[in-house]
Amino acid sequence: MENKKEKRGQFTSKLGFVLAASGSAVGLGNLWRFPFTAGANGGGAFVLVYFVILFIIGFTLMLGELSMGRATMLSPIGAYRKLKSKYAWIGVLGVAAGFLILSFYSVIGGWVIRYLVKAVSGDFNVTDGAVLGELFTDFIQNPLEPLVYHGIFMALTVLIVIGGVAKGIERYSKIMMPSLFVMLILLMIRSLTLPGAMEGVKFLLIPDFSKINAEVILAAMGQVFFSLSLGMGTMITYGSYLDKEQNLISSAMEIPLIDTIVALVAGLVILPAVFSFGFNPEGGPGLLFITLPAVFSQMPLGGFFAVMFFILVLFAALTSSISILEVVVSYAVDERGWSRKFSTVTLAAVIFVMGIPSSLGQGLWSHVRFFGRDILDNVDFLASNVFLPLGGLLMCLFIGWVWGVDKAIDEVTNHGKLSFPLKGFWTVMIKYVAPIGILFVFAQATGLLEL
Ligand code: PFF
Repeated sequence: MENKKEKRGQFTSKLGFVLAASGSAVGLGNLWRFPFTAGANGGGAFVLVYFVILFIIGFTLMLGELSMGRATMLSPIGAYRKLKSKYAWIGVLGVAAGFLILSFYSVIGGWVIRYLVKAVSGDFNVTDGAVLGELFTDFIQNPLEPLVYHGIFMALTVLIVIGGVAKGIERYSKIMMPSLFVMLILLMIRSLTLPGAMEGVKFLLIPDFSKINAEVILAAMGQVFFSLSLGMGTMITYGSYLDKEQNLISSAMEIPLIDTIVALVAGLVILPAVFSFGFNPEGGPGLLFITLPAVFSQMPLGGFFAVMFFILVLFAALTSSISILEVVVSYAVDERGWSRKFSTVTLAAVIFVMGIPSSLGQGLWSHVRFFGRDILDNVDFLASNVFLPLGGLLMCLFIGWVWGVDKAIDEVTNHGKLSFPLKGFWTVMIKYVAPIGILFVFAQATGLLEL
């Protein structure tokens, strides 16, 4: 037993942990997905619903996952099994979501690397939106090039994960996260001072209630789960690397807070620029890649900022992709007894192959569409809007009614050593409000319930 614990590794400090966990939360979900999903779902209306859902599930589920992880010192499947063996399948669902998410996440990560290369070679002197749009479409439609970058992104993820918890994940997060933050603030200032920028701010912050419908609500719920890395056991896994003295309660507040600030700031970088340059806020997944080059071209030292920015987006993406791969890998290490190296390489290769259709769906296979969405969007939809919330729902029910809130609270308070003033609130949230809320959104989205 002792031996096993040594092999698993641990975070070395509270700061290291919070940065690594926020590193998992902050990623393409904030910088790429949040702005375009808000843009496509009514702007302020989406943001408002996002906040309501964040309030209900953010802290509640974050603390739930961390407590399960640290109580069991195991990754999702093992954690469920240890607490009640019949329920290991909930963890399986999470690992499956991990495969799906990383498969397309790495494709977008590849796009980021391509844009970093462009920035380094000084390709961002174009202001013309149409030209920038074309450059982007030409690139993603090419069958081979994006796959090469998808492979590079996956290889980088593998290299960090092989390094293990303290030397890989924690060390990188400590440098990358603070730099990203500074960079985003600079970009936000530039974006907000562009002519016509206020239109973008209004679009993002002033809700038009008539735009709220079942689709917007489901999109917002998926975004909360995706952005906070909740619902698939990432935070169970990270929690399992924490020592017993750490304060889970404050971590469960800090991580969503940091994540939300970064998402909003990213929104305030992208959307003002969208309006200032006359792009369409509903521009979809290309928004980050089309608007930002336009912003850089309008900045003194824009070329330099472009390089810095794409490096940091890449860092943010990597601190998230490693957390997804970690869930899958820790399953193989904990449950199957595979070596860390072998699991990491093999599983990443499988996920790389799974991502190929998402990449080809942008060009060669763009005729393959289901429900009006291309392959990548469908995988994203299935993972983020279905698997993650379902995993979250099941976890609430599991903690609330199977494992028992008292046991979770005992873990969270370090066996009574910490005070937990929000105990009553958390109990009500995890037993009733969060599960009913998630069910309500599902019921709306599937048309079972219409308000
Ligand atoms: N939260 C990450 C982001 O916002 O980019 C993505 C992610 C990581 C989703 C880990 C799910 C997960 F388990």
